[in-house]
Amino acid sequence: GRKNGLIIAIDGPSGAGKSTITKLLAERLGYIHIDTGAMFRAIALSASRNGVEADDDRGLEELCRSTDVVLKRSNGCCMVLLNGEDVSHAIRTPEISALTSKISARKPVRESLLKLQRRMGEQGGVILEGRDIGTVVFPDAEVKFFLSASAEERGRRRYLELVAKGEQVTLEQTIAAVISRDENDEKREHAPLRCANDAVIIDSTRLSIEEVLESMEKKVRERVPEQ
Ligand code: DC
Repeated sequence: GRKNGLIIAIDGPSGAGKSTITKLLAERLGYIHIDTGAMFRAIALSASRNGVEADDDRGLEELCRSTDVVLKRSNGCCMVLLNGEDVSHAIRTPEISALTSKISARKPVRESLLKLQRRMGEQGGVILEGRDIGTVVFPDAEVKFFLSASAEERGRRRYLELVAKGEQVTLEQTIAAVISRDENDEKREHAPLRCANDAVIIDSTRLSIEEVLESMEKKVRERVPEQ
């Protein structure tokens, strides 16, 4: 058994609402939220700053060895530290999103973060969100969700987020970027985005955050009758 509770896996494509939902569900359950996408983003930012190319596996391996990625909780929010520096905002630009999509496909990067993710989650009491949590990182997770939505809806949500942050993007561009990242995530050789056989599939296209949250919490509570 796990010391601190269950391991909950939430996988799905970008823009399906994973981050928002995972954060809220973690709060309700008193669980730790592990945003694995943020970890890949931090490595991508580090690669970009250090001039390591996305296809340079040797360079990436060395970079991962010398890069310290830490997720820290600060007033309910997940803070991302890259060698001690708060990069929570710097990892969310469209440029870093595009680079992360490439870099997260590389074997040395996946292997390095896989180890770190397992160490962070093995005691339980955690919700990990990503693409391969239920299939690769924790195939024995007690509860697995696959959260999806149509590409148009996911593009629209991401567009609104970017505009709110003052990014200069169009809706069309944002939908195209979502579709292109889906393709990269699904077609890559190492740990592609895939729904685990035993995952609960939730299509959030026409659901509110509250509705998604309710159905997930219900599923989780079924696994912990004593709570
Ligand atoms: O969830 P996100 O948009 O922050 O993820 C950023 C990128 O990292 C995205 O292109 C998919 C990739 N990723 C991955 O390959 N495996 C994970 N477990 C999480 C994210």
